[in-house]
Amino acid sequence: MNVNDFKINKSNSQKVSVITCYDYSLAKIIDSTDIDCVLVGDSGCMIMHGYPSTVHATTDMITVMIQSVARAIKDKFIIGDMPFLSNRSGLETAMKTVDCFMKAGAHAVKLEGVDGNEEIIEHIVKSGVPVMGHIGLTPQSVNALGGYSVQGKNSKTAKKLLNEAKKLENLGCFGMVLECVPSGLAKTITDSVSISTIGIGAGPDTDGQVLVLQDMLGMNCEIKPKFVRHYLKGYELISNAVNTFHLDVLNSQYPLKEESYK
Ligand code: KIV
Repeated sequence: MNVNDFKINKSNSQKVSVITCYDYSLAKIIDSTDIDCVLVGDSGCMIMHGYPSTVHATTDMITVMIQSVARAIKDKFIIGDMPFLSNRSGLETAMKTVDCFMKAGAHAVKLEGVDGNEEIIEHIVKSGVPVMGHIGLTPQSVNALGGYSVQGKNSKTAKKLLNEAKKLENLGCFGMVLECVPSGLAKTITDSVSISTIGIGAGPDTDGQVLVLQDMLGMNCEIKPKFVRHYLKGYELISNAVNTFHLDVLNSQYPLKEESYK
């Protein structure tokens, strides 16, 4: 998949599947799947490093994750997530982050929010780097939003989101993430723009869907938002395997003769 396929897929009503990934070993598995696109999201700072929010992601952290993922992914579109404030500290800082991400192996960058980002988005696009927008619930602004809640629930905020989506299209973005917005609004936005909408908690009528890999593998049992579907009981499977190894060691059942060198 490349950047042009997002538009082609939209015109053919063919959905785009996106999954997050942050490390080499899982990226090797993702590479062998049919998934269209890999997002090296700033959620990696929570999933991989245990931080309480994406506010803690840094350019260095995400660059290392992109490098690890890109070493494993041979033929999928990789998007790097611009971390907290990297696009709010001037054009030069923003472009340094973009430079790091593209040299690390990304094919595009994603950037949260629209207001005040117009110049930077336009500049990145005109520099030859595809940009994906991100509106609705923008987790880097969790403190300003007052929590992780569904956005665009009344007509005023819905109109604002629709305007933001159109702005992203006009600024030259190839797509946008719609996070935690009512399904009806996500459909209206999807029908109103010519670029791809990738939903997460935005219902079935977007042009594609994205999920955090560890969420859909059921590896996080503490929080399960309504939109997350567990395709695996990852937590249970891994902890059972580790406990079985532990018992085998205690009972001298591991290693067996055939697992040992003569
Ligand atoms: O960082 C991330 O995982 C994301 C997705 C939720 C879209 O931005």
